[in-house]
Amino acid sequence: MSEELKRFYITTPIYYVNDIPHIGHAYTTIAADVLARYKRLYGYQVFFLTGSDEHGQKVEQSAKEYGETPKELADRVVERFKGLWKRLNISNDGFIRTTDTRHKQGVRRFFEAVYKKGDIYLGEYEDWYCTPCETFWTETQLKDRKCPDCGRPIERLKEKSYFFRMSIYQDKLLQHIETNPDFIQPPSRRNEIISFIKGGVRDLSVSRTSFDWGIHLPIDPDHVIYVWFDALINYLTGIGYGDEEEGFKRFWPADIHIIGKDILRFHAVYWPAFLMSADLPLPKRIFSHGWWTVEGKKMSKSFQNVVEPNMLIDEYGADALRYFLLREIPFGIDGDFSHKAMIGRINSDLANDLGNLLSRSLSMVNKYFNGMVPPSHEKGDLDEGLIKISTKAIIEIEPLIDELGFNNILIRIWDIVRGINKYIDDTAPWRYAKRDEGKKRLSSIIYNILESLRIITLLIYPFMPETGEELWRQLGIEEELSDQDINEVKEWGRLKPGTRIRLGRQLFPRIEETLMAKKSA
Ligand code: ME8
Repeated sequence: MSEELKRFYITTPIYYVNDIPHIGHAYTTIAADVLARYKRLYGYQVFFLTGSDEHGQKVEQSAKEYGETPKELADRVVERFKGLWKRLNISNDGFIRTTDTRHKQGVRRFFEAVYKKGDIYLGEYEDWYCTPCETFWTETQLKDRKCPDCGRPIERLKEKSYFFRMSIYQDKLLQHIETNPDFIQPPSRRNEIISFIKGGVRDLSVSRTSFDWGIHLPIDPDHVIYVWFDALINYLTGIGYGDEEEGFKRFWPADIHIIGKDILRFHAVYWPAFLMSADLPLPKRIFSHGWWTVEGKKMSKSFQNVVEPNMLIDEYGADALRYFLLREIPFGIDGDFSHKAMIGRINSDLANDLGNLLSRSLSMVNKYFNGMVPPSHEKGDLDEGLIKISTKAIIEIEPLIDELGFNNILIRIWDIVRGINKYIDDTAPWRYAKRDEGKKRLSSIIYNILESLRIITLLIYPFMPETGEELWRQLGIEEELSDQDINEVKEWGRLKPGTRIRLGRQLFPRIEETLMAKKSA
């Protein structure tokens, strides 16, 4: 594969700074992180971008409520996001803030390109506006005179505004979506967008005069740029558009924008039209994931059920949260978060299946081989099966990564985890320890167990980086886990006999035990 084809640019939405991060934000970012880590593992040069959306009426209003300037609010809240990403081990290569000078310059440049094309004109807007969604609605779109998306009150806005000639891109856009079946995923969402466009798209108001917190138009400083027009361009400015062209050319077009289903229209209708107008290539793929409810209810400040990821990390650990969110539901479908479900997953999959596997395996190495990886001799019954499931997984998982089939990948990995546990039960290595003539067989069995563990550690690492590192450390492997290229280390037999294992902490203590221990402390 050529250098060119081995690059991968992946983005998350940039998050509004009027609110602190919750599990919805964590979900998108974790998914993007797992994809980025897998791509690196499979030899890609990755650029993974996230950031913050800091302009607009919503942020201005929140700042007023807090008695801060919008920039003070942004500076404070952006640290909450950055802090959370650090705790969750998010491996982003860039972080773009829409108040960064490089972003503002890029937005003005983009606006000028679209203006020069003749796609911007001055008109007047009068319609209903939902500030929390930063979206205009027509009379007929309203639901019970409220915002059809979030159900909150709307207000009547009338103002002079610059418009983007969205309508002239309607046919070209439809044609692009129809000839590129993977452009919008999953397919159900793609169909929604197709019918939305077929229903007719109106020109889009892309400037505001009713407030000031934003990027002023280069052609008319009384207007600030509509927050969505500003925000979407982060995908360009975050890699150097208008500032560092070489980096920009290296990574644009994005391989994938990962977003939630509520913001698909902005990404799949407006964004491609803006790019067509600016004569830039379109992103290759837009994937919209589902939404989490909490204990059966929509997450909302008024229900006081907003799940704060930091609390979950304190309680269960970053890796358990990463695992749960991607294992529990297929990416693309809605799901429900509950502590009961989370504890169930931790105890069965992580503590029982994986944690026990590691501790029982390493204690045999300690007991029978003085803590050294023993050599493998001729193959015996049952070995082929274990070797096959472990090595096949590496090949079969690669296309699942591209499909963002996270829960299927985890199911596959856990088939191997259970497969190794079963191999231990079926081969019963301890039987061979009693007789001298059994030593060779014992040695091979233990080698096979450890080698399978090496392979699943590579596959688990993108999902649970801390756990991966700990497994790797306990297996005693010297090379850096994060430097591994799976294409070079995927064959069976790479684990070197003679490697000294290192016994370490229990991977995932069962939850009740921890809670009991806390109570009795
Ligand atoms: O929309 N479950 O930012 P944002 C799953 N700034 N995902 C959820 C969720 C939930 N309950 N609640 C929110 C914005 N999300 C814009 C983006 S991009 C150019 C600009 C997800 O902070 C939501 O689907 O409101 C979206 O993908 C993300 O959080 C950002 O939300």
